[in-house]
Amino acid sequence: MDTLVKTKILDPKIPEQLQEAIDLLKDGECVAFPTETVYGLGADALNQEAVKKIFLAKGRPADNPLIVHIADRKQINDLVVEVPAEAQVLIEKFWPGPLTLVLKKKLSVPDIVTAGLSTVAVRMPDHPVALQLLKSGVPLAAPSANISGKPSPTRAEHVFSDLNGRIPAIVDGGATQSGVESTVIDCTISPFRLLRPGGVTFEQLKNYCQIEIDRGVYHHVDKPRSPGMKYKHYSPDADLVLVMGEDKVSTIVQQVKLHPNKSVGIMAVSEHIKIYREHCPGTTLLEMGSKYDLPTVAENIYHLLREVDARGLELVFVEGFPEENLGMAIMNRLRRAAGKVLRSES
Ligand code: TXA
Ligand code: MG
Repeated sequence: MDTLVKTKILDPKIPEQLQEAIDLLKDGECVAFPTETVYGLGADALNQEAVKKIFLAKGRPADNPLIVHIADRKQINDLVVEVPAEAQVLIEKFWPGPLTLVLKKKLSVPDIVTAGLSTVAVRMPDHPVALQLLKSGVPLAAPSANISGKPSPTRAEHVFSDLNGRIPAIVDGGATQSGVESTVIDCTISPFRLLRPGGVTFEQLKNYCQIEIDRGVYHHVDKPRSPGMKYKHYSPDADLVLVMGEDKVSTIVQQVKLHPNKSVGIMAVSEHIKIYREHCPGTTLLEMGSKYDLPTVAENIYHLLREVDARGLELVFVEGFPEENLGMAIMNRLRRAAGKVLRSES
């Protein structure tokens, strides 16, 4: 970006400030706003020049397509060629909410939004501020409002720290609720394919449609169906080691002892904090929430990944979770953030 702009923080409770955000979007600018999952960086999805600014501000690779956000279920018909009956059931059940459907796109959706794919990803977010912005005008193409590769922003401060000077405004709606991004499913094939686990779980979806899990959910694949899944993601600058298996606590305690001269942190569930306090004195303990309360863990995860850098840690061990329900989305994000995975013996 040639010249740095001053990034305004707008309060959506003040009508003039909400209007300012709407006017910027109508003028083809990009604006960050809260959704129920993470903050998005939105621009008029039907304006190619406006969408270009999103890629520039984030430093996002041009081959990674964006999700188009809408305010009303019916708006999907302006964007896609057809909605299969099973997808319609999911729309009725989960919208507004953290579920993104990939469908065959109409010509009116610019190629820049879909990175040249013949499909488009669409969702209706469940957040009053997002819906107010969307209702006032056009559909918004919006990726998470972080610098590409960094943890997704769950607070306006996170967006400011990444994008200050690169975008004209951030609408500050406080901390987001659900913490991990939307679930992305491909509805152009049968059975449907889970491309990215998220706020709506695989177990929930299975009750309403035929669906399989894409390999890319667990592994880096060369040509994933969801292009965003091939990038290392959500990463702090510190070395992050994901520790899985029954004996993860003792494995972490042993590992910490091997690095007496490093500034080491542990991301742990509340139930284990006391053990680490006793056995790993001097380490920074980052509490993720109770292992019985995965929504809280999901809500905390991106903030804690940012804390890792804010606290200047060099090496961080993070505890893994069983990959079911919300644990599938949490583990998907932790795997992508971690440079290394250790499996403890049981
Ligand atoms: O919760 C969310 O989904 C947030 C909020 C802001 O709505 N957005 C978000 O966007 O996480 P982003 O761009 O960070 O992630 C979108 C994911 C990427 O993995 C991308 O590759 C995938 O969706 N995607 C987008 N369009 C696609 C398409 N046509 N086919 C397959 N995958 C697609
Ligand atoms: Mg993202």
